[in-house]
Amino acid sequence: MTRRMLILICLVSTTICLQSQEANYDESAVPDYVLPELLVNEDGSKVKTKDDWEKIRRPELLGLFQQNVYGRVPDGDFSQSHEVLSHEQNALGGLADRYEIKITIDKNDRVLSFNLLVYLPADAKDPLPVFMGLNFNGNHTIHPDPGILITESWVRNREIPPIRNNQATEYARGMAASRWPLKFILERGYGLATIYYGDIDPDYDDSFQNGVHPLFYGPGQERPEDDEWGSISAWAWGLSRAMDYLVTWEAIDPGRVIVIGHSRLGKTSLWAGASDERFAMVVSNNSGCGGAALSRREFGETVKRINTSFPHWFCRNFHDYNMRVSELPVDQHMLIALMAPRPVYIASAEEDRWADPRGEYLSGYYAAPVYNLYDPTVLEFESPDIDSPVNDMRIGYHIRSGGHNVTKFDWKQYLDFADNNLAE
Ligand code: GCU
Repeated sequence: MTRRMLILICLVSTTICLQSQEANYDESAVPDYVLPELLVNEDGSKVKTKDDWEKIRRPELLGLFQQNVYGRVPDGDFSQSHEVLSHEQNALGGLADRYEIKITIDKNDRVLSFNLLVYLPADAKDPLPVFMGLNFNGNHTIHPDPGILITESWVRNREIPPIRNNQATEYARGMAASRWPLKFILERGYGLATIYYGDIDPDYDDSFQNGVHPLFYGPGQERPEDDEWGSISAWAWGLSRAMDYLVTWEAIDPGRVIVIGHSRLGKTSLWAGASDERFAMVVSNNSGCGGAALSRREFGETVKRINTSFPHWFCRNFHDYNMRVSELPVDQHMLIALMAPRPVYIASAEEDRWADPRGEYLSGYYAAPVYNLYDPTVLEFESPDIDSPVNDMRIGYHIRSGGHNVTKFDWKQYLDFADNNLAE
């Protein structure tokens, strides 16, 4: 063997070794873990009834997630106003009414605005159920509809379609349309509301100088306190501000607004659903670490890895658990349980191992005891086969074939699940 070949073999094996050190994808190497008790209060007493859950354990867990994971929203009044920027009847060839509403938050002489895009099925008579979720690249990317305003906020640069200088242009119109099957949703009798998440807080680490965070700084404060909101908590807060508006809208049924999100925005939809019980149903699509996946499994993305790659997503306190996940006072099954008794749907994808599909399933499985306090028929179910959704209980789940994405298959399950659970 030549010296060059030897060096090459060493290099290749070092790379493989480094990669496998980066993430564990081996089920047999998942550490033994003990989940924190869901139905035991901090004082050691047991949660036996839904009253115990609602009055004691739920507030305790919500507080622990605020304090240690996502960060609490700082106190303080702010003012909020709404301006209808556009309303087009007969959008999409007569299928829908399209609205764009500018929501403006005013606090401490600083102002932040974000645009809520809403499509409602045309000619609906009764108040409508609506899916609401944040989008990754601007409202104009969710459909080629030329009437949607192009975001003026910071957007990530990319090659295809070309985005330069962090400025959105016509090129990106409709680029994410496959993730938002609008016609399909409208034809099923649901509205769709969406906001570009970067309007609320641009998704890069700038020590919280842009986005909503500075509006809430006290005199001399330069970044959130260790237990105050990271970006996920801020994005979820933005969804709640949009909800403030939706509940005043006559055409929309305030009791049937569903919050949905994919990936980092799935982590966000879960946190929004946990912190704001006005959301009647919650959908997590491939949300992974810090979303539906159990942190203690350390399969795929870990707490340390996510806090290192995305230091701005969670509160500062979460970073303290990078090397001691087993000491976290919560795990993500507790986040799912915070939705109870509202329907929650968790979706995984077979090839999305980074998000730990089994860990996502297990958090739903281990949340079931809280649902059982309300309805003893919500039993834990076995992990279903690929592409075999479980959508007839209050906790829904599927693992789809394919990779990290949102597909029409996923949407069909969410619509069926909503029909099953939120029918009038
Ligand atoms: C990265 C990140 C994930 C996240 C995903 C996304 O892969 O590690 O935690 O869910 O981005 O939001 O697309």
